[in-house]
Amino acid sequence: MTIRPIISLPDPRLRQKSEPVARVDDGVRQLMDDMLETMYDAPGVGLAAIQVGVPKRVVVIDTAKDGDEKHPLFLANPEIVWSSEEKRVYQEGCLSIPDFTEDVERPERVRARFLDRNGEPREIEADGLLATALQHEIDHLNGVLFIDYISRLKRERIIKKFIKQAKRDGDERETRQRQTGS
Ligand code: NI
Repeated sequence: MTIRPIISLPDPRLRQKSEPVARVDDGVRQLMDDMLETMYDAPGVGLAAIQVGVPKRVVVIDTAKDGDEKHPLFLANPEIVWSSEEKRVYQEGCLSIPDFTEDVERPERVRARFLDRNGEPREIEADGLLATALQHEIDHLNGVLFIDYISRLKRERIIKKFIKQAKRDGDERETRQRQTGS
């Protein structure tokens, strides 16, 4: 298992729509295992393949609390097939938008259909943090980020911050390259 680099705002790939996997083969399982390792290392409760730069409809989630036994979920081609009328507000964050959290309102319960790590079709009904994580990660597969649900003012402010940061990092890299002549 390999820890892969996580892409962050303003990387345009985060807005890309991911493609379904034709079948869950060894390549997809390898991707799932790497993603799980990357997510645990971050640490986070969910990760979509596009966050490691792979535009495939693959997600890993583990909402087990710190110290509890790990409970990883591997999902290929996940789809929300039902959501409750009742909503719930949860403070969300994202490994691709580090150090930023904001309240997001979403359906409280959802039912999702997906292929598991063995390619078997499965359906789960979830509430609480798992329901939020499923919706957040499936959004990633459609190029949707949790900041799309917050006020435009806050969203523009956070995007600007990340563009500035990326520019600063780029400038520093350029300066370093000039200095080392590489
Ligand atoms: Ni995220």
